[in-house]
Amino acid sequence: MEKLIGEKVNIAVFVSGEGSNLKNLIKFSKKKKSNFSVKIVISNNFKSKGLLYAKKTKIITRVYNFINKKNYEKKLVSTLSKLDINLICLAGFMKILPSSFIKKFKGKIINIHPSLLPKYKGLNTHKRALINKDKYTGCTVHYVNNKLDSGKIILQKKIRLLKKDNIESVRKKVLKIEHQIYPKAIKKIII
Ligand code: GRF
Repeated sequence: MEKLIGEKVNIAVFVSGEGSNLKNLIKFSKKKKSNFSVKIVISNNFKSKGLLYAKKTKIITRVYNFINKKNYEKKLVSTLSKLDINLICLAGFMKILPSSFIKKFKGKIINIHPSLLPKYKGLNTHKRALINKDKYTGCTVHYVNNKLDSGKIILQKKIRLLKKDNIESVRKKVLKIEHQIYPKAIKKIII
């Protein structure tokens, strides 16, 4: 992805729930060193805390049902095009995007996942890492393709799993490193 020197890349963030990654990206984007700007936040959930936070910070928000693509895909694509969005960042977005949408934005959709991919695609990643007594777990930022959590890896960070760890302690520790690597991963792919 290319940009002009000094120009910020416009990103859209898709969220469904808490939105701690979204908040972190918004905060980071306001720093001088940031090379991106969060132009719009999209959600499938009116009650998403992330969405409510974005509204408060006066970022444009839109909610679509993401159930039947006939009902939302055109509108979504047109909204993103009007805002000249160059990159879509999924951050705790719990819906599967239609393949037609992924095709339209090929190479421009990325996701953050709470495991060291290719290990533990899908849900309950921390539980699975704990059950398997893994020494390490972590998080991954990757491109989105048509297979769940399977696109090319952009950046990963790992942490040690301790005997005293439980799902909640791992969740907190992993979120912390997610917040470190997501902005870095964006920086890495914007040349
Ligand atoms: C994160 O663990 C992310 O990796 C996963 O969903 C969680 C979202 O957390 N895809 P938040 O909504 O950003 O707090």
